[in-house]
Amino acid sequence: MRKKKVLVVGGTGYLGQHLLSGFSEIDGVPYDIAFTYHSFAPEALLGALPHLLSFQVDLKSGQGFDTITENFGQPDIVVNCAAISVPRACEVDPVSAFSVNVPTAIGTWLLSFEGRNTLFIHLSTDQVYEGVESFYNEEDETIPVNVYGKSKLAAEQYVSEKFSNFAILRSSIIFGPQTISPVPKSLPVQWIDATLSEGNEVEFFHDEFRCPVYVKDVVNVIITLIKTWISEGKQMQLLLNVGGPNRVSRVEMAETVAEIRGHKKSLIKRVSASSIDRGVKSPADISMNIGKLIQILAMSPVSFTDGVRLTLCS
Ligand SMILES: NC(=O)c1ccc[n+]([C@@H]2O[C@H](COP(=O)([O-])OP(=O)(O)OC[C@H]3O[C@@H](n4cnc5c(N)ncnc54)[C@H](OP(=O)(O)O)[C@@H]3O)[C@@H](O)[C@H]2O)c1
Repeated sequence: MRKKKVLVVGGTGYLGQHLLSGFSEIDGVPYDIAFTYHSFAPEALLGALPHLLSFQVDLKSGQGFDTITENFGQPDIVVNCAAISVPRACEVDPVSAFSVNVPTAIGTWLLSFEGRNTLFIHLSTDQVYEGVESFYNEEDETIPVNVYGKSKLAAEQYVSEKFSNFAILRSSIIFGPQTISPVPKSLPVQWIDATLSEGNEVEFFHDEFRCPVYVKDVVNVIITLIKTWISEGKQMQLLLNVGGPNRVSRVEMAETVAEIRGHKKSLIKRVSASSIDRGVKSPADISMNIGKLIQILAMSPVSFTDGVRLTLCS
């Protein structure tokens, strides 16, 4: 049987690189894997994972997908990790946010193939929720408060309308080690570590809550869904909250990092999120109920590694 073809769109981003590493760690690497980049294909990534094919695409224009057809063919599985993922950048340029974050270019390309059975795994965000209650369920109303959340919700609507075989993963903050080729954006835990290590007092919100999720857990969830699709062959229409096991405030995140890295907790100043204008609205409490995710993982050999205690800052 031929190997399944997996395409990671946005393979140069934070999650994308971890996912490519995760695939490479599976015994015998049972897939043919390709990834896309937008700005450049990092040499460190190509050097570390030389068996991968890479393609440049622009999700705004759709440029680059024909080359994938010619050199890789129709993928069996697409994991879309590409996005303008920084809320402030979305607020500054909403047109770009919608044109990149809503995967119309990928959809148009995939729907041009005759056999349309590709599994499309799409990364969404907890920021589709308004943030006025705790422990959101997947069925709860979605009321995004910023452009990033609105563009991601529009993406979810596009995916569920256009595809018949899909999984939408609403991820909370993803944390973990730096990538093979370091990403340009600030990583939450590394930022807290670096800031506290300067020895100055830093303000953190005591009233903004998330369920941060360890990057390798997100990778495991994606690989589990792919394995399930390959072994069972049943189409899926899945909407899933993907968070870590704990609802924590920004203060609690900082305290955890301080504890593990040996920084003084007295440097952490508790302030209210309402006391600072960040130029973009941020939902207050978008902690998620992850019961459905746990049920799915219970059927697989994967369980939460709870990276909070493992590799926060490596
Ligand atoms: N990281 C988190 O904490 C978090 C939390 C919740 C949800 N998510 C979601 O999870 C997914 C992955 O997040 P991430 O943190 O890994 O994102 P990221 O590090 O910002 O990576 C973004 C990726 O998108 C690509 N990209 C950007 N503009 C593009 C364009 N015009 N055409 C084609 N590709 C383009 C980038 O390519 P270049 O590298 O070449 O620029 C990069 O590969 C996103 O959907 C994000 O919204 C992330």
